[in-house]
Amino acid sequence: MRAILLSLTAAIAMSFTCYAQGNNYVQNYTKFEDLALTPPMGWNSWNKFACNVDEKMIREIADVMVSSGMKEAGYTYVNIDDCWHGDRDSLGFIHPDPQRFPSGMKALADYVHAKGLKLGIYSDAGSQTCGGRPGSRGYEFQDALMYARWGIDYLKYDWCNTEGLKAEGGYKTIAAALRKAGRPVVLSICEWGNDKPWDWGRTVGHLWRTTGDIYNCFDCVEDHGTWKSWGVMQILDKQEGLREFAGPGHWNDPDMLEVGNGMVVNQDRAHFSMWAMLAAPLIAGNDLRAMNKQTVDILTNKDVIAIDQDALGIQGFKHSLKDSVETWYKPLKNGDWAVCFLNRSKSSGSIELSWQENKVVDSFAKRELDAVSTTYKIRNLWTKKDQGTTKKLLKANIPGQDVLMLRLIKQ
Ligand code: GLA
Repeated sequence: MRAILLSLTAAIAMSFTCYAQGNNYVQNYTKFEDLALTPPMGWNSWNKFACNVDEKMIREIADVMVSSGMKEAGYTYVNIDDCWHGDRDSLGFIHPDPQRFPSGMKALADYVHAKGLKLGIYSDAGSQTCGGRPGSRGYEFQDALMYARWGIDYLKYDWCNTEGLKAEGGYKTIAAALRKAGRPVVLSICEWGNDKPWDWGRTVGHLWRTTGDIYNCFDCVEDHGTWKSWGVMQILDKQEGLREFAGPGHWNDPDMLEVGNGMVVNQDRAHFSMWAMLAAPLIAGNDLRAMNKQTVDILTNKDVIAIDQDALGIQGFKHSLKDSVETWYKPLKNGDWAVCFLNRSKSSGSIELSWQENKVVDSFAKRELDAVSTTYKIRNLWTKKDQGTTKKLLKANIPGQDVLMLRLIKQ
C-alpha cells in the first residue's frame, strides 16, 4: 500500500514538473527587448486624417516617406491610427474594413516592408476604440495573433471605454498577447498619463503618452467639453519631472507631431526642436503627400534628429527662464551637449550667455558642462553654421515663438 501511494505521489509530482517545465500557463507580461533603443520615428494618420484612413493613402504615404528623404533621415514606421477596423468574424478574429482596405492588411504590410519601412496599427484596451470601432478587450490574444499574421511591427494601444480596468493590468495583458504571438512589436502605451505609466510602463511597453491629445496650435488649450486637448507649449510644460523615467527602449511620449499642419514656420521649428530635446518619439502627423519645402526641411533636419536620436537616450531638461526665454540642455554622447533657447513670447527676445561663467550640472545624468575646463565648438543646428566656441560670450536675438538650437561639440 505504502509503495503504491509513494509511486502515485511521484507520478503526480512528475507530471506537475513536466507541465511547469512546458511553461504553458506562465505568461510573459513584458515587452520585446531591444526595440526602440532610440525614440521611434515614423508617421501616424490621426492628427491630420482622424478616421479617414484607407489603404491607398497609406501606400502613398509610404511612397512619399521614401521619396521625400524622410526614410533616409530615420523615419521608419507608417502607423495607421483609429478606424481601420471592420468586423470580427464568427470566431472573434478582427478584419479590416473591406471598403477601406480591400487588399487586406497583409498585402499592405508587404507593400510597406518592400520599401524598407514598417507598419503600425492601433487598438484599444477597452470594449471600443475612441472612434467607436471594436476594441481588444477580451480578444487580446486573438488580435495579437492577427497582427503577427499580417506582419505588424508597432501597436498603439489606446484607453477609451475601459470601465472597470486598471491600466497596468490592461497593458500587461496585451504585452503578454504580443509575446505569445511571437512577432516583435513596439508597444505604444496610450493612456494619456492618467495612471502614471512611467511608474509601471518600462517593462511593459516601449513608449507611453504622458498627456492628453495634442492640438494643432503653439500655445492654446482646446476645450471639447468633457475633455481638453493641448497646444505645443502646454504639452511641453506637462513633461516636468518625467525625464528620469525615459531611456533606451522606454520613452516618454508627448504625442505626435503637428509640424506641417498649419502652424507658422517658426512655431513648427520650435515644436520639432523641443521634441528632440525631450528625446520624444518623432511621429509626423501631417499629410506627407502635400508638404512644402519648409516642412520637409524641418522634418528632415538631420542635426536636430541626431539630438533626438542620440545613443545615450537622456531626455533634456529646462535649466532656466529669463524674461520669456527658456534655456534647455541635453547631454549627448562623446561629451557633447545640445542647448536650446526657446522664446515663448510672440515678440523677439535677446539672450546673452557667458558659457565659462555658467557651469551646468545635470545631477540626474551625472554630467557637467564646464566651459572652463573644456572648450566646445558651437554649431547652429538650424542655420547649419559654425558659431565659434564657448570661450566667447553668446549674444543672440531670437524671433517670437522660435528657438536658437546649438550643438556644443567637445574639443
Ligand atoms: C485618442 C488618442 C489619439 C487618437 C484617438 C483615436 O484620443 O489619444 O491619439 O489615437 O484616440 O480615436
